[in-house]
Amino acid sequence: MKFFIDTADVSEIKDLSSSGFLDGVTTNPSLIKKSGRDINEVIAEICDIVPGPVSAEVAATNYNDMISEAKVLKNIAKNVTIKVPLTWDGLKACRTLRDEDVLVNVTLCFSASQALLAAKAGATFISPFVGRLDDIGLDGMELISDICTIYSNYPNLNTEVLVASIRSPKHVIEAAKMGADIVTLPPNVLKQLINHPLTDNGLEAFLEDWKKTGQSIT
Ligand code: E4P
Repeated sequence: MKFFIDTADVSEIKDLSSSGFLDGVTTNPSLIKKSGRDINEVIAEICDIVPGPVSAEVAATNYNDMISEAKVLKNIAKNVTIKVPLTWDGLKACRTLRDEDVLVNVTLCFSASQALLAAKAGATFISPFVGRLDDIGLDGMELISDICTIYSNYPNLNTEVLVASIRSPKHVIEAAKMGADIVTLPPNVLKQLINHPLTDNGLEAFLEDWKKTGQSIT
């Protein structure tokens, strides 16, 4: 399973990339706004730090303008992935960009039928938003299960399932059990993945006992 980070905060990305866990980055207009930075500058910096796919989202809603924006964004760096919304224009733009070998992430997916359309449009990645479905009382992980089943029924569909809008480590583990290809993690969730009180308590006890032996390894 690949780990992407869902942020446009360059210092956070630098910090986490040193762990060697980051396979890619996703951003969206809200994350760019939160960063307070110019999209072209911030995406260029992120692409320098992380060699994997870095998603930059178009803000246009019609096909022609999406393609114009995609042209600008894809010239920032080789690893820029164009993020388009799951609309008819977005899917049309996806097909055009994929025919030009540009990586495309189709975002704002909330149903299995949408995911099927995105795969048929040749999307490199489909981004189903699990947390936002949970927020309205639906089951986000059920959607991931459906998409994984559908895609595996048709091996000629090469779209990777990129689980988005993740709120907790539980989402990550469930996605891994279902065989989802990628999770895009908010930095706080990535950091939470390592936490376990028994690890902390166990280490504390080992260190106390080690001190009592009076030994030193080096
Ligand atoms: C995915 O690419 C989106 O940027 C993101 O996961 C949305 O998450 P949110 O629902 O927490 O805003």
